[in-house]
Amino acid sequence: MSSTKFTEVNPTAQNHRIPLNDGNSIPLIGLGTYSTLRTTPKDACYNAVKVAIDVGYRHFDGAWVYGNEHEVGRAIQEKVADGTVSRDDIYYCGKLWNTCHPPEMVRPTLEKSLGLLKFDYIDLYIIELPLAFKPGDEIYPRDENGKYLYHPTDLCATWEALEACKDAGLVKSIGVSNFNRRQLEQILNKSGLKYKPAVNQVECHPYLTQPKLREFCNLHGIVIVGYSPLGTCRDPLWVNTKIPSLLEDPVLNSVAAKYKKTSAQVALRYQIQRKIVVIPKSFNSERIKQNFEIFDFSLTDEEMKAIDALNRNERYVELLIWKDHPEYPFSDDY
Ligand code: A2P
Repeated sequence: MSSTKFTEVNPTAQNHRIPLNDGNSIPLIGLGTYSTLRTTPKDACYNAVKVAIDVGYRHFDGAWVYGNEHEVGRAIQEKVADGTVSRDDIYYCGKLWNTCHPPEMVRPTLEKSLGLLKFDYIDLYIIELPLAFKPGDEIYPRDENGKYLYHPTDLCATWEALEACKDAGLVKSIGVSNFNRRQLEQILNKSGLKYKPAVNQVECHPYLTQPKLREFCNLHGIVIVGYSPLGTCRDPLWVNTKIPSLLEDPVLNSVAAKYKKTSAQVALRYQIQRKIVVIPKSFNSERIKQNFEIFDFSLTDEEMKAIDALNRNERYVELLIWKDHPEYPFSDDY
């Protein structure tokens, strides 16, 4: 599977890449690797990535700020070393954290990830949030009163530094995450723009189907990568648990029963059928396997419409603690 080949027919377990606007392609499903470090056993991520490669996953979504990028890298290195895959079969997305937005920090920050992963390039590097924080050693910088310390955000300047990383061959594609329409337009309308964002990674699932943002992104050839496609782990520390559990939804479960599938598989199939990339997180072998078994059934137009109708335009991941940031993205309609 070369990095530029993509499927123009029905996606299969072996080939489910879709094209990006820069000539590269991205697999429709990847393994999410975000987990709370405090409660996750050491090596859980490493083991999950190895299992996932054996199952057939080739796409891994990670970030320096998740604190486990070295585990992802070690698992991939071992699977390359034992001949299961080659580095070029693997698709890795990394993320630029909020404290590293100043343009001169972008390349060294990417190089830090490359060092942890032991890669000489990554496939996709995205601005994790449009919210610049005060640079420094603190990941979540705060003053003595607990107030978050922000930094003037210049999304275009940060974007130009990402463009330079692509030109230097350190990353194949560049994109953004959690950007609203206005913030995307800021980049798209930038004078001298060299590369459009290839993706916008945002929360997306049957309760937040993102119809307007999706239409806008389609118009500009930007692929949506949907995070929390299963409705998150429902950790009340960062998840809006007022929204019911997605996987208990009666419509998803009745469609699942028809195909002898699970609600999780239906939620994932729904997204890939509408060309939204999904990155379900699981560190459990059975569920890693289950989440990949979405290429042997398809939903009818009526079922797709019934799932579209579940949209509540509500977020599990509201990030309200940063609502006072001037670039907080979720106050706009989309
Ligand atoms: P685990 O890692 O124990 O499997 P999201 O990707 O939407 O953020 O969801 C991730 C959460 O969903 C994790 O808590 C994960 O737990 C759980 N999960 C992953 N796959 C499944 C599945 N097939 N069925 C039920 N829960 C799942």
